[in-house]
Amino acid sequence: MELFRTILELQQALTADRSAGLTIGFVPTMGALHPGHLSLVNRAGVENDRVVVSIFVNPTQFNDPSDLRNYPRTLDADMALLSTCRCEYVFAPSVDEIYPVPDIRKFDFGSLESVMEGHFRPGHFNGVAQVVSKLFDLVKPDKAYFGLKDFQQYSIIKNMCSMLKLPVGIVACDIVREADGLAMSSRNTLLTPEHRAIVPQIYSTLQNALKEAGQFRPEEVRKHVIDRINSLGLLQVEYFEIVDELTLKAISSWEQKGTKVGCIAVFAGKVRLIDNIVFAK
Ligand code: PAF
Repeated sequence: MELFRTILELQQALTADRSAGLTIGFVPTMGALHPGHLSLVNRAGVENDRVVVSIFVNPTQFNDPSDLRNYPRTLDADMALLSTCRCEYVFAPSVDEIYPVPDIRKFDFGSLESVMEGHFRPGHFNGVAQVVSKLFDLVKPDKAYFGLKDFQQYSIIKNMCSMLKLPVGIVACDIVREADGLAMSSRNTLLTPEHRAIVPQIYSTLQNALKEAGQFRPEEVRKHVIDRINSLGLLQVEYFEIVDELTLKAISSWEQKGTKVGCIAVFAGKVRLIDNIVFAK
């Protein structure tokens, strides 16, 4: 496994691989890796000849400066974890390497970005699109791997690839959970012991919502989830929406065609967690 800090080093290695006809799988990350990330790396390893993992805490996708400041940065531990997988190249550039000049591009994802994460974190998806499009341009992967915990991000990236006609296969990977159901996230390490003890209730509430779906209308299920989590005292729901998987518009009836996904964002103290559950295929 090689660690590259510059675009030049990365591109030298990848140009040689591409001329040898090797396929490239790419896992973009912001580091603070956990088994959820490793599941993406392992899948990339099964499906490609070369695996590239980027580790870059992208400033343009943070709308809250203290969130950016506190985001865990653990390169040595990340390298140790990656050495347990098949990963040929780690790309961990500086901010100046990625943004030698400010990126002023504005993406328009229409209604996909005006709801949920996009609504509560203005500019977030523009920043994600800036960095992911740059990274795709540098790595030119055959396939790129994204976790479904960030369901809206996955939707936006698929949309960006169609919009920019990028020849990258976007592979969605299932959410990986702790034994108690908490979705794995780099932010989990920031939870206090008190919050850590209660956050598994987010997923158990989503599972109950799934059971209730036959008896109650979507709007009622939505309210039950919000009320239940807020009633626990230590958690504050920012949003819970049951949306159509393609349009991300809130559904009004279970009879609507297509897969429905219940997406939630919850504050556990200062730590913001997201999760989701699929209601129907
Ligand atoms: O999901 C993430 O970790 C980030 O949003 C990504 C895709 C690496 C872009 O910075």
